[in-house]
Amino acid sequence: MLLFQIFPCPWFLISFLVPCYGSLQPGFSKLQRGYRLDRKLIQSFTELSFLDCVIECLVTPRCKSVNYFKGANFCEINYENKTTAETRYMESAGWVYSEKEHWPKELAGACSNSTCEINQTCKHKRYSEDKFFECVLSDCGIPDQNGINLSSIKREDAIGIHRRIHASCADGYSQSGSGQLNCQSNGEWKYNIVCEDVDECQEDPCLNGANCTNTPGSFTCTCDAGWTGIVCNEEFEIPLSLTPFMIFGTNEYREYTQHARYIKCKGVQSGTEH
Ligand SMILES: *[C@@H]1O[C@H](CO)[C@@H](O)[C@H](O)[C@H]1NC(C)=O
Ligand SMILES: *[C@@H]1O[C@H](CO)[C@@H](O)[C@H](O)[C@H]1NC(C)=O
Ligand SMILES: *[C@@H]1O[C@H](CO)[C@@H](O)[C@H](O)[C@H]1NC(C)=O
Ligand SMILES: *[C@@H]1O[C@H](CO)[C@@H](O)[C@H](O)[C@H]1NC(C)=O
Ligand SMILES: *[C@@H]1O[C@H](CO)[C@@H](O)[C@H](O)[C@H]1NC(C)=O
Repeated sequence: MLLFQIFPCPWFLISFLVPCYGSLQPGFSKLQRGYRLDRKLIQSFTELSFLDCVIECLVTPRCKSVNYFKGANFCEINYENKTTAETRYMESAGWVYSEKEHWPKELAGACSNSTCEINQTCKHKRYSEDKFFECVLSDCGIPDQNGINLSSIKREDAIGIHRRIHASCADGYSQSGSGQLNCQSNGEWKYNIVCEDVDECQEDPCLNGANCTNTPGSFTCTCDAGWTGIVCNEEFEIPLSLTPFMIFGTNEYREYTQHARYIKCKGVQSGTEH
């Protein structure tokens, strides 16, 4: 046991595991050499063998894929895969990309039967038949606070415990604070950012007598009769098939007079055809 702790993945064990788990083969054959998934990190590890990197993903319910840099035995586990985060999948020399689902879950030993939560990781004794495992907090989750834009996330950012990410406020919010989010040891984000909704109605964006309603990150205009468009700057057009006569005769009349200045003027007031 001591040997396993000193050397996280002894090479003789890999060659031993391959014949043990015949289904290991698909995982190796589906490796994507020269690729990695960018900016979707849960956690990264140094001095880990590739197989240990895969196992780290298998014991972390949120993990969907891994990036591995062979030259430095550097392991990254991701909370997305190349299908769920297509635009973040890119060529990257020296890296190997692999999907969690290409590996047999039995590789995780006792942890393959764990009931850890999505924000936890299962700690186990590697390669042992031991039934012992425990669930410990792994990350703070993907921040979902209103008004935060995660497009400004940096290459080294991660959502794991004691890691941090760089965020900014979404369009329509004003920002205060450094923009850093720190994942604390209790599994909760410390937000060094406050995104306050901007009240766009203060600038009277709605035209032609429309009413303005502020919404989180945006605003809506309720147009006056005869106007349409996002800021009510377009004249409402009456479908040609509807003559004033037809409109007068139906319940549509009230609806149309609310929206169509055209009908009000030329229909109601003068009573003539358009
Ligand atoms: C990627 O993740 C999704 C969602 O978890 C999953 O359905 C899919 O099978 C995964 N792998 C691939 C190759 O799409
Ligand atoms: C996981 O559970 C299955 C079915 O309950 C059992 O056959 C298997 O041995 C268990 N695996 C481990 C590693 O405990
Ligand atoms: C987030 O930021 C990106 C780049 O800065 C920008 O293009 C995008 O519109 C923003 N999204 C929101 C919802 O603010
Ligand atoms: C971890 O996830 C569980 C269930 O998904 C949730 O109840 C719990 O609050 C989360 N813990 C933290 C620290 O966010
Ligand atoms: C705007 O709001 C006022 C007060 O609520 C209301 O009287 C008026 O009819 C509204 N105008 C439009 C175009 O909805």
